[in-house]
Amino acid sequence: MTAQSQNKILVAYFSWSGNDKVLAGQIAQETGGDLFEIKTVKAYPGAYNACIDVAKQEQNSNARPALSGADTNMGQYGTVFLCYPNWWGTLPMGGGGTFLEAYDFSGKTIYPLITHGGSRFGRSLDDIKKLCPKAAIGEGLSVSAFDTNPKDGTRVTAPNRDLTAWLRKLGI
Ligand SMILES: Cc1cc2nc3c(=O)[nH]c(=O)nc-3n(C[C@H](O)[C@H](O)[C@H](O)COP(=O)(O)O)c2cc1C
Repeated sequence: MTAQSQNKILVAYFSWSGNDKVLAGQIAQETGGDLFEIKTVKAYPGAYNACIDVAKQEQNSNARPALSGADTNMGQYGTVFLCYPNWWGTLPMGGGGTFLEAYDFSGKTIYPLITHGGSRFGRSLDDIKKLCPKAAIGEGLSVSAFDTNPKDGTRVTAPNRDLTAWLRKLGI
């Protein structure tokens, strides 16, 4: 594998209620990266309370929910944006453990983007480091779910200016 063949950008995202999907789309648009949705085989409940119960159970049992969809050809990427919501203080188990253990991230740089309801990054940066010990973890961005569109509760909208500023700062 030559260095040149690893210079592409992957924008991987997990999103239950849409916020991370919106921001991942913005990253892909601004960087020219490939968008990749991390999806579990078993869909999470659509109702909030049911979803938080399932998410808590998965976290308590350190679950690795199976992912659906095509494998991404990770070898071609040197830069990976990982976009995920804060679920109970860290990444959702499918967006975190299952996805991050499925690939070899050595030599790659992961830039975390989290959306949250107040807890910012929570424990997620430490958890990413533990799950991907061979990756470099670049500066992350946390975006409040209430940031950009307070009238609509927890909906973020794009373009998000903090996100654009972050990409400029990263030089990507
Ligand atoms: C199962 C679940 C657990 C959550 N736990 C937290 C939490 O611990 N801390 C927090 O700040 N926000 C928490 N939230 C709020 C989400 O992080 C926030 O709404 C996020 O922007 C949703 O992203 P999405 O639309 O891409 O799914 C939780 C939401 C859900 C559905």
